[in-house]
Amino acid sequence: MITHQNGVFHIQTESYSYLFKIDDYGIPEHLHFGTPVQTEDAFPLSCRPGLGWGSNVLLREGDTASNLDALALEWSGSGRGDYRESPVELTGRATDFRYETFEILEGSAVMTSGLPQAHGAMETLHLTLGQKGAKLHLYYTAFPTALVRRSALENTGEETIPLGKIMSFCVDLPGSYTMATFNGGWIGEMRRENTPVGASKVVNESLTGASSNRHNPGFLLYEADATETAGRVYGFNLVYSGNHYASAQRSLQGLTRVMQGIHMSHFRKDLAPGEWFETPEAVLACSDAGFGGLSRNMHIFVNDHIIRPDWQGRPRPVLYNSWEGCVFDFNQHRLLELADRAKELGCELFVLDDGWFGQRNNDHAGLGDYNVNRKKLPQGMEGLSRRIREKGLEFGLWFEPESVNPDSDLYRAHPEWALTDAFEPVYGRNQLLLDLTRKEVRDYIVENVSRILDNAQISYVKWDMNRHSIALGAKAHDFVLGLYDVLRRIFIPRRHILLESCSSGGNRFDLGMLCFSPQIWASDDTDPVERLTIQEGYSYLYPQSTIGAHVSAAPHAQTLRTTPLSTRGNVAFFGCLGYELDLKHLLNVEIKEIKEQIAFYKQYRDIFQYGTFGRTNLGWQVSDGKTTLAGVFHRLVPAAPGYEQLRLTGLNPQKRYQVTSLAQTIRVGQFGNLLKHVAPVHIDPNGQLLRMADRHVTLPAGNECFTASGAALMSGILLRPLFRGTGYDQNQRTQGDFGSDIYIVEELAE
Ligand code: DGJ
Repeated sequence: MITHQNGVFHIQTESYSYLFKIDDYGIPEHLHFGTPVQTEDAFPLSCRPGLGWGSNVLLREGDTASNLDALALEWSGSGRGDYRESPVELTGRATDFRYETFEILEGSAVMTSGLPQAHGAMETLHLTLGQKGAKLHLYYTAFPTALVRRSALENTGEETIPLGKIMSFCVDLPGSYTMATFNGGWIGEMRRENTPVGASKVVNESLTGASSNRHNPGFLLYEADATETAGRVYGFNLVYSGNHYASAQRSLQGLTRVMQGIHMSHFRKDLAPGEWFETPEAVLACSDAGFGGLSRNMHIFVNDHIIRPDWQGRPRPVLYNSWEGCVFDFNQHRLLELADRAKELGCELFVLDDGWFGQRNNDHAGLGDYNVNRKKLPQGMEGLSRRIREKGLEFGLWFEPESVNPDSDLYRAHPEWALTDAFEPVYGRNQLLLDLTRKEVRDYIVENVSRILDNAQISYVKWDMNRHSIALGAKAHDFVLGLYDVLRRIFIPRRHILLESCSSGGNRFDLGMLCFSPQIWASDDTDPVERLTIQEGYSYLYPQSTIGAHVSAAPHAQTLRTTPLSTRGNVAFFGCLGYELDLKHLLNVEIKEIKEQIAFYKQYRDIFQYGTFGRTNLGWQVSDGKTTLAGVFHRLVPAAPGYEQLRLTGLNPQKRYQVTSLAQTIRVGQFGNLLKHVAPVHIDPNGQLLRMADRHVTLPAGNECFTASGAALMSGILLRPLFRGTGYDQNQRTQGDFGSDIYIVEELAE
């Protein structure tokens, strides 16, 4: 509900209140963003500058309440007394927007520039502020668990406006915060870093042309004492896939100014009279229930208002992807063999990754071309997809439509379609980007991708993009708009297709892409130990239903680390499960284990993909209110490990629960020459017999089965002992490094 009373605007939902007032000078002053309060609280929530702080520049002589620098604002300009960072810059000019009008709209105010937009809004407050020759529009759109803000600038004068910067939102929050950002690079995405926000500015930005794996646009501001279950945490994100900028800085007065939007570097729009520019939507969420509460609010928002309605709440298929197993080396025969195996294991979708077109036998050639390689696939895509579907699997295909290799028919025909600058071209993975700001380029992509999709039986697309952009100036933003146009034209008429986007893994994991692709390949790093960091990073802002998570072969291609198959599965369960390894050489014990993993995942898929997520003291949990699934994950285990206490959250303290762990085993080969402690017979640790036994024999690895009250489970239960070098016992969790468990906690009927 949005109300306006005595100059106070109050946006209220069941989970938050957002209040601001228009002051005597027509300046919107921020009052509150947090737990629901009453409109009448406006007075005690206001800044009262008293006699001021000195060095004031006042809008009205003698009135310290007109010192913009000392007030909590909803927006700000430059040159009028507020010397903090301004969310808008009209190159070289002062800005001083004052309140003019408001309207309250049902749902959202529809955007006109082609940017993606959250759907299913409650109401929107549209505020206009003006200065000579320009109007500033501020939009506040209410969703149950998040507020969406954006701005637009309109040229109402006679002269061109040189727009150098315009953020989606700006707000001054009273208090001190630490900023958590999610940083990294290829195969190392979403590493959380915490930087206290003081008088020096903390910035989160990308200038790669995409939202980037260096700095995800989503970030948090939290109070120092916030924990997973208590304390104040704010979350911010941008519905945008290009260069982004966010900053936070605390003023002398103890106000933390935070803003986010399109990065102002490499950005410039000259607005002709009558033109306007709209910014992407920014998402603001808050919780006084710690990081867990904030994540829940963000997850609900993304699942309900970002994901396309036709994919909302829909189970995501267990897929097999050819990339890590085959790379470019495949033919129809090999793919069909893999499909047989994938089907036998329980996969539902077979995805052919890179290498099916043109001269694409390595990553030096072929991007830009769409002719199916008949040497590899003699029956074409129609034939392959038909044969796969006859096996009872869905069929999916990889594309990288935004890119071109100089060694391609497309580049030879249209070198001018590649995005270059005045210098010698610079390549990333031997490729350039296509200039999506050109209509003929977009048409080429739409026609060719559509043709392939319509001539084969394809129900899933992986849309990849593997180089940073060099687009500068207006082109940086227009490229992103071009991408959205292409995605819209291809996939809106083909709603049956599940789109998974990807950019060298998580180089473009953002809410803009999620508006089109319900899931995103989270990282090219499939080592589950690395994934603990990566998937946990995503979990702060993105729900499990959006996170592509695959089991791959060990040693892992990214780290050379060897991990147990059980842990590879247990980590990937907390996302959209897939398998990405050569299935031909699996051992019997592995086949059995993978079949069990997939069957287990399918049984609890709804909870893994859509359950309420939480980070526990030992890993992660998901829950539908009745059943909680908790993963306990180990990295390096110490010698002589002590008791391990698991604390769950969100249970009913009064209820009793049945606790069982997912039955796991350990391969005998893992014992090597220690086998003499386990088996009564003496076996050569390097001999044939052990190798043979390792393919067929596994030993139980300590499963749990007991009942406990919700109170005990939340207070902390002690798990079965871990291996301590004192021998094998089937009641012990004999796992070694990188071991893990899944606990199934089910509420018992009274
Ligand atoms: C990068 C992606 O992240 C991988 O999963 C794979 O699709 C390769 N590109 C193919 O070139």
